[in-house]
Amino acid sequence: MPQSYRVAILGATGAVGTELLELLAQRRFPIAHLKLLASPRSAGQTLTFQGETLPVEAVSDRAFDDIDIVLASAGGSTSKAWASKIVAAGAVMIDNSSAFRMDADVPLIVPEVNPEAVTTHQGIIANPNCTTILMSVAVYPLHQVHPIQRLIAATYQSASGAGARAMEEVKEQTRAILAGKPAIPEILPYPLAFNLFPHNSPMNSNGYCEEELKMVNETRKIFGDDRLRISATCVRVPVLRAHSEAINLEFSQPFSPDLARDILSQAPGVKLVEDWQANYFPMPIDATGQDDVLVGRIRQDISHPCGLELWLCGDQIRKGAALNAVQIAELLVAKNCLKPAAPAVAGYQV
Ligand code: A2P
Repeated sequence: MPQSYRVAILGATGAVGTELLELLAQRRFPIAHLKLLASPRSAGQTLTFQGETLPVEAVSDRAFDDIDIVLASAGGSTSKAWASKIVAAGAVMIDNSSAFRMDADVPLIVPEVNPEAVTTHQGIIANPNCTTILMSVAVYPLHQVHPIQRLIAATYQSASGAGARAMEEVKEQTRAILAGKPAIPEILPYPLAFNLFPHNSPMNSNGYCEEELKMVNETRKIFGDDRLRISATCVRVPVLRAHSEAINLEFSQPFSPDLARDILSQAPGVKLVEDWQANYFPMPIDATGQDDVLVGRIRQDISHPCGLELWLCGDQIRKGAALNAVQIAELLVAKNCLKPAAPAVAGYQV
């Protein structure tokens, strides 16, 4: 009989948490038992999984007993607060927060790039930052053919990156402005409807914000190349749930756009979207709900003989977070890096 696993979602009521539920069902992840955890605010709520109504529980000391995999998406402080209990309980934590990403003993995985890293885990595996995941999936296949010398990125990031309440806030602000009322920011720092602003993560002394430095440091770790030169400018835009990125790549030799197209048309997790006659290229509305990162506008950089430009859009909640985490869980199972589940535990069954 195929093995199945006891899974907990920490942050089940959030934007990524609810997507995790959907993906576990859609991808038929072998689940023996599913536990939904959130803050005490959500205790008593219910969510639906494969037609079953499941209760949401407040996370607690005993919540991880008899659990094999914890998919955590409840923010860095919650991950830090519960990580040692999760690992002590014998579960593997796949953490969507930035809390452990740069720790030397924590693998940081994009399954299309460095799946082998899953075998090295010591209880925690980090899911990279959303912009980093989307960019890595698109540029790693090119990097394998001619190593990237320098990468310059500009991002156009959706509200979903700031969570479900930020998405609601953009809708409310849009309705308010259309009704002639002021747009009041509560979750986001500034009005986002009909506006955009440079990413508001904490600023570093070198003038880069944390989001930008995540793209630099996480990509280097995932690619296993500490010398990769990367610079990024991250911007929040009034889009609900798909990020866009303009990427300039510099190689040590010319990289023909046609070769890049050939490579990317066969790359896992990538869909080439280019209709030059119709001027139709990846857009956030087309990337929404899609697993693939949409890539297009591949062209020679007219300012540099070894430069290539490309444009991508990817669903921030899906491949940028929940899908990547579920793919990591699938790798754990495929590579036999989890202990087998015991027979289904007491409580509700799914
Ligand atoms: P809750 O809904 O009870 O606040 P998002 O990223 O969309 O904002 O979602 C964040 C998720 O993390 C939600 O499920 C939220 O639960 C959960 N969460 C936030 N703070 C905590 C906490 N201290 N303990 C457990 N879960 C938390």
